[in-house]
Amino acid sequence: MEDYALSFWIYMGVMSVFVGGAMKKILASHISAAPTLLAWLGVTVLVERLCSLWPPAILALAVLCTVCCLSSSRSTPAQTLPTEGKAVFITGCDSGFGKAAAQRLDALGFEVFASVLDLRGTGARELRHICSSRLTLLQMDITQPEEVQQALLATQAKLGLRGLWGLVNNAGICVNFGDAELSLMSNYRGCMEVNFFGTLNVTKTFLPLLRKAKGRIVTISSPSGEQPFPCLAAYGASKAALNLFINTLRHELKPWGVKVSTVLPSAFKTGQSSNSEYWDQQYKHLIQNLSPELLEEYGEEYTLETKQLFQDFAKTANEDLSPVINTITDALVSLQPKVRYYAGPGVGLMYFIYSYFPMSISDKFLQRLFLKKKVLPRALQNQNGNSHNNNINTM
Ligand SMILES: *[C@@H]1O[C@H](CO)[C@@H](O)[C@H](O)[C@H]1NC(C)=O
Repeated sequence: MEDYALSFWIYMGVMSVFVGGAMKKILASHISAAPTLLAWLGVTVLVERLCSLWPPAILALAVLCTVCCLSSSRSTPAQTLPTEGKAVFITGCDSGFGKAAAQRLDALGFEVFASVLDLRGTGARELRHICSSRLTLLQMDITQPEEVQQALLATQAKLGLRGLWGLVNNAGICVNFGDAELSLMSNYRGCMEVNFFGTLNVTKTFLPLLRKAKGRIVTISSPSGEQPFPCLAAYGASKAALNLFINTLRHELKPWGVKVSTVLPSAFKTGQSSNSEYWDQQYKHLIQNLSPELLEEYGEEYTLETKQLFQDFAKTANEDLSPVINTITDALVSLQPKVRYYAGPGVGLMYFIYSYFPMSISDKFLQRLFLKKKVLPRALQNQNGNSHNNNINTM
């Protein structure tokens, strides 16, 4: 009897720690897997109770598995809204997600307003060529409020008394790479100017039209706005600011019937990421603008390695943009769009690890996954009294 009591209390202790820890994580996280995990937790406890009451536990498990299989295979056809007569405004359609989204949404029957930086560029030309006559191309740099205002007037002129069904905030930049200390102030400001202030101004400008249509806002953000990716401080901080703004809008716009979604893509080949001249230019700019002291302490071999790692990482990025385009479409046509969409391979896993594992593990995961630095800053190499990994230096 005594033995039983002891093992019972040990068991209860372990269970409480496990369940308590899981609950804390679930409550603290906002990932969409939370309800599923909660359900699993409930099922685990239930099965555990059943097992103690009912000897043929195998049978209970079998029944449970059957129920789970049945309920997951019974997929209900997704209900979607008609696209006819609905207008959607997309920013940053010169290339990448914006261009692909304009094409897809046009093909689905939406009336697309696609803003580009360069009306005479290849992206705009291609869109004009591929898309239907419903497509309107507009020149707009989202950091120029006059251009944003002009785009609004042009859109309004076409819409007449109709509202705007969708705004796809896609335009964004990632101008720098490198440790936070080595990133230039101009990079921080540049990212904020486009990714945060630009998107903010566009969203505020088009909101009256969106409220009129009880429409949707879809914003392309980045996991780096929520997780501390190495060497992405400037970009990540601007996306973090954007996320908070968009998330606040989300609940403030509920009474207006405007639904707000955020798309969190993994790495895709968009923009300049596979252009090696671009990386060389960025690197040169960085080296020229760093203070001599910093350059001395970190060493050129260190900054060069970072650049190389980024370039290599960009090469491994996905070329097929459809996971992101599918989520943008879903956010615009689904009856109940999700608040957050994880798009692309690995993002779900990344968020799972970030939300449910200790910080030391998720930090390691990000470093391994993203940039595996080998070269130490020069000042630290000297401190260690050896100069391993210095081969780039001697080249
Ligand atoms: C956009 O930014 C400009 C310049 O800061 C400002 O004058 C304008 O009112 C902004 N638009 C909205 C809708 O807030």
